Amino acid sequence: MELIIQPGAPESARIVADSIVALLQRKPDAVLGLATGSSPLAVYDELVRRHEAGDVSFAQARAFLLDEYVGLPADHPQRYRNVIETELVGRVDFAEGAVQGPDGLAADIPAACAAYEQAIVDAGGVDLQILGIGTDGHIAFNEPGSSLASRTRIKTLTRQTRIDNARFFDDDVEKVPTHTLTQGLATIRAARHLVLVSTGRHKAEAIHQMVEGPVSAMWPASVLQHHPHVSVLVDPAAAARL
Ligand code: GLP
Repeated sequence: MELIIQPGAPESARIVADSIVALLQRKPDAVLGLATGSSPLAVYDELVRRHEAGDVSFAQARAFLLDEYVGLPADHPQRYRNVIETELVGRVDFAEGAVQGPDGLAADIPAACAAYEQAIVDAGGVDLQILGIGTDGHIAFNEPGSSLASRTRIKTLTRQTRIDNARFFDDDVEKVPTHTLTQGLATIRAARHLVLVSTGRHKAEAIHQMVEGPVSAMWPASVLQHHPHVSVLVDPAAAARL
């Protein structure tokens, strides 16, 4: 695990964008793994800047989202497929249909999860996966207790995660969906390069457990210790417990 401490999110974002631009220059049809949440926003802004400067094209790239809320209407602004459209996809030149997420409106959820796993395999696997981390150490929506061998499936959100995400739902925790479809920890670990970005004191315990704790389903991000190519970019506040 490569740990990089930067002054703040913009500095980390430049390093992550460098990696993604280099990947796409080397392999224009690369497969990216995209995350939602606040943590990657600076990365997406930086990628848009590089795209506008003519440094990078996503025209041949593909991308897969980590997770999706169950049951949000197709036009809901917090549906992750819509969030990522606003934050990145609609601001660069991805081809139509090149970005997929788990189908949170599927009638047959197990079948939709299996189809999503297969779609990632058919695309050749994820070359570079962007990750954030929850205050309880979750990655994607793999909450504490998630199997380290898990694949895309439905998960119940913890109360804490719903509280953390209430800021996206009018600060009303009751409006936050109770269930999500999420790539599993084994799905995420299959990506060839994992890049986790995190800032703030509220993430310090999760970062400590991920980097220095025992590998445990109770701190799901700790499973990244078993991955051969992980880059963790944090600010001094998120690194405070290391
Ligand atoms: C969310 C997402 C995760 C994200 C995490 C942290 O619930 N499902 O993918 O990494 O929680 O979010 P944030 O970056 O907003 O702190």
